[in-house]
Amino acid sequence: MAPSPLSPLRKALRPYRSVFVVYDRNVEAWARQIAALRPGAPLFALTADEAHKTPETALDICRWLLVQGADRKALLLAVGGGITTDLAGFAACIYKRGIHYANVPTTLLAQVDAGLGGKTGANLDGYKNMVGVIRQPEFVCILPGTLETLPDRAFRSGVAELLKTFLIGDAAAYEKAVALLRKGRPAPDDPELGGLIRRAAAIKQAIVDCDEQERGRRRVLNLGHTYAHALEWYQQTHRCADPLTHGEAVAVGLVCAARLSERLGLAQEGLARRIEDDLRACGLPTALPCPEEALEEAVRKDKKAEGDQVCFVLLRSIGHVVLKKL
Ligand code: GLY
Repeated sequence: MAPSPLSPLRKALRPYRSVFVVYDRNVEAWARQIAALRPGAPLFALTADEAHKTPETALDICRWLLVQGADRKALLLAVGGGITTDLAGFAACIYKRGIHYANVPTTLLAQVDAGLGGKTGANLDGYKNMVGVIRQPEFVCILPGTLETLPDRAFRSGVAELLKTFLIGDAAAYEKAVALLRKGRPAPDDPELGGLIRRAAAIKQAIVDCDEQERGRRRVLNLGHTYAHALEWYQQTHRCADPLTHGEAVAVGLVCAARLSERLGLAQEGLARRIEDDLRACGLPTALPCPEEALEEAVRKDKKAEGDQVCFVLLRSIGHVVLKKL
């Protein structure tokens, strides 16, 4: 008989005396299966959207932990996408000044990016991720089957972060990923997809391991994000109908970053065109939905800006990036 896909998670949970599960309502069936690994584990359902990603929701999780009698040896397990893992992680970092937490990311984006690296937090008064803590989870368990319920658009958002990671650190994996994903969406249990997710997670983890607090090298993970954040800000302030998702904004941002790299003479001509074609073949948007000048103010306001300088992540070639203050 084949081993259950949940066996590694059952083993990972064994050392913890008590387990509390915070989950996104959209993956309730998975959360219940996972909680059943520890009979009696209490569950807390989240409406996982940006409007609910607030300090108040994190405090609601803390109040629930208190009512449930969670002590400092408890493990808080997040089951969901990046909003869920950020919020649950944040609650775990502040409840009783910090309890253990772990993630079961159920979106592709969270499996290759948001669920890894220890960034936790919430939005504040409409500003994204303005409060938070960086502290590493006890473990991250990727269950490929959880991708089955993910809508196509959300899957493609994750593809943008997957390709971003390979643009940063692995040209061969980038080629493989584009070859696979341009054929359409693979089955969740496709071994090639599983291998690419593990590779991207390993690249991110290695970068985080050498600069957890994002003082230097970790910044490369923001490739494409300076423009993406500016674009998201523009869409929000202009109340755009059908705004790009975060991953889609990252796809557009990757092309902008590649173009800037060419303009500055860092990358060979043709790189931006190549990346644009690849992203489009994978079903992602690549064109700026507004004039570039409209983003300038937002780029200056980027929360990672220092004084009048913004740290851009630029490409030398696929798999090689540099940081440049501009
Ligand atoms: N998502 C970028 C980072 O974790 O540093």
